[in-house]
Amino acid sequence: MNVLLIGSGGREHAIARALSKSALLSRLYAAPGNPGMAEVAELARLDASDHAAVARFCAEKTIELVVIGPEQPLVEGLADSLREKGVAVFGPSKAAARLEGSKGFVKDLCRANAIPTADYQRFDDEKKALAYLREKGAPIVVKADGLAAGKGVVVAETLEEAERAVDSMFSGAFGKSGAEVVIEEKLEGEEASFFVLCDGTRALPFASAQDHKRAGDGDTGPNTGGMGAYSPAPCFTAEIEARVMSEIVAPTLRALREMGAPFQGVLFVGLMLTKQGPKLIEFNVRFGDPETQAMLPRLEDDLLELMLAAAKGALPDAPLRFSPQTALTVVLAAKFYPGTPLTGTEIKGVARASEIAGVVVTHAGTRRDADKLVAAGGRVLNVTGLGDTVREAQALAYKGVEAIDWPEGFCRRDIGWRAI
Ligand code: AMP
Ligand code: GLY
Repeated sequence: MNVLLIGSGGREHAIARALSKSALLSRLYAAPGNPGMAEVAELARLDASDHAAVARFCAEKTIELVVIGPEQPLVEGLADSLREKGVAVFGPSKAAARLEGSKGFVKDLCRANAIPTADYQRFDDEKKALAYLREKGAPIVVKADGLAAGKGVVVAETLEEAERAVDSMFSGAFGKSGAEVVIEEKLEGEEASFFVLCDGTRALPFASAQDHKRAGDGDTGPNTGGMGAYSPAPCFTAEIEARVMSEIVAPTLRALREMGAPFQGVLFVGLMLTKQGPKLIEFNVRFGDPETQAMLPRLEDDLLELMLAAAKGALPDAPLRFSPQTALTVVLAAKFYPGTPLTGTEIKGVARASEIAGVVVTHAGTRRDADKLVAAGGRVLNVTGLGDTVREAQALAYKGVEAIDWPEGFCRRDIGWRAI
């Protein structure tokens, strides 16, 4: 069958690579894709916000499954537009994507269904929000309601910091996303991410991972989209998984179904493992980036078969098969990221790094410039190592990093420290 994959980042390159291994696949198209994806897919110039154009492309190329990588087109309803035309889609409808598109929606859903999460209040009025902050005191967490590319959350250690966050959100720092804010209690514990495939009725545990959100070693510096990840997360035990499935995932999917918004795709459950048990920090309605680059190399089942089953309401009941190895991914970012990254700089040595046994290099923000590979974004390359232990996977990933010649790039040197 022919498949269209929407997106252009490291997550999508990892998905493209896994799909390309499927015996079910005839042709894989990626829109817009990246130079890494071009090795396994035909790149298509398509604007994901032009739903009619995507639907036309599907008809022309007899696409039988569309896989939507990033959150923006999901929140904008691309899945709905394609399903209306009879195309199977891996990714939730606009109504179900509110799990990522509106933090207030999720918090209310949690409250109504007794799902464990941080205590909170929603505000569309700045004065009331500030009064609530003063009543609660610091530490406290302030969140813009809508999508903010991972930048709409401030974990404030002081009241002044929290007040500044509220002020900047209401003054339009995040556009419409900040017209409403959620203020919530700060949770304490270890963070873990858990991914679940959903077909509208069934939920099948996929894998766990841990990300590193801060730009600098030792979890210092500004927040980023993620500087590295490993999978599985050793802290995410079978017992915790069972609790998350029954206390968080099942009631959420049931609530969505009852609203007429069944969830099809992958649910990304961001968790804090607190002393009182796992609590929800946030949902995302797509795979994580860079978590996917660490999870997919471990998957032994056919990703295309699974995505198609999720899209058709026919996920299997049997647990998925993953290699017992650990995969660890290091993100190579362009100088000045997460500020304005320096782009256009030449990268050499990707082929050399890829030749190391147990090393996989994924393109996240690259571009071809004549015969050169150049940086074209903030997070540019991902280097994954696969090993029997976290330490072994880490050593391989950094061996891959050393093989890459890119003076204008940087990475964290401590990915995996918590597990080691
Ligand atoms: P989010 O975009 O909601 O994932 O938030 C980004 C990061 O902020 C999370 O990965 C956590 O590290 C942190 N965070 C968000 N909410 C809370 C909370 N209630 N307590 C502690 N940390 C939080
Ligand atoms: N790495 C976090 C995310 O994909 O949102």
